[in-house]
Amino acid sequence: MYQEKYKSSASLFSMNYIKKNSIIGIGTGSTILHFIKYLRKLKHCITGVVSSSIHSLNILKKYQFCILNCNNVEKIDVYIDSADEIDYNLMMIKGGGGALTGEKILASKSKQFICIVDDSKIVKKLGKFPIPIEVVPMSVSHIKKKLISLGCFPILRKNFTTDYGNKIIDAYNLKINNVLKLEEKLNSYPGIVTVGLFAKQSADICIISGKLGIKILKKNNKNS
Ligand code: 5RP
Repeated sequence: MYQEKYKSSASLFSMNYIKKNSIIGIGTGSTILHFIKYLRKLKHCITGVVSSSIHSLNILKKYQFCILNCNNVEKIDVYIDSADEIDYNLMMIKGGGGALTGEKILASKSKQFICIVDDSKIVKKLGKFPIPIEVVPMSVSHIKKKLISLGCFPILRKNFTTDYGNKIIDAYNLKINNVLKLEEKLNSYPGIVTVGLFAKQSADICIISGKLGIKILKKNNKNS
């Protein structure tokens, strides 16, 4: 219950980073629902929004935002999204909602990535949350075998297809020694579309909301 309140206050605080005439990338998930609710009030000051998923797109349409096609946008000014886990280097596990591919594309097209979380998402070391991995359907059994050989326990997400017609394997207990190296290694497996490790596309700023209020983490641990 408190988590919802914290998600809402982190979202409200992120409004400080919304500049006039800017293009905003919109993440996916329950935190982002709070964010969209606040952004509605600034709808007429921004140029438009680019959505990371069909789910968020439908909500943005309902609220009559100016929706821009990702292919027609050179750069997104700021991408706002949440995470399943985020560490002190602002690297993340994302994709709990299955929208990791759109999220990673928008993160890599953005000048700034702001992650908004309640304080339960902050971890010293990533890996308690299973790593979502989007795979093309014909590679499911092959990728599962590869993951088992890495010592992890892969589970195919039931009754779920991504916006791009793919499947999600949730990788439990995958040992993460070096986040970036593991992301690169998994990316090299044919059949994997997107890995839910965001090391290369780490956040620039993390807004954390908790019992003691708002805390900001910046890349390179310049806290404030
Ligand atoms: C969706 C995501 C979300 O950012 C992540 O799952 C957190 O979701 P929530 O805001 O509901 O806690 O990566 O693919």
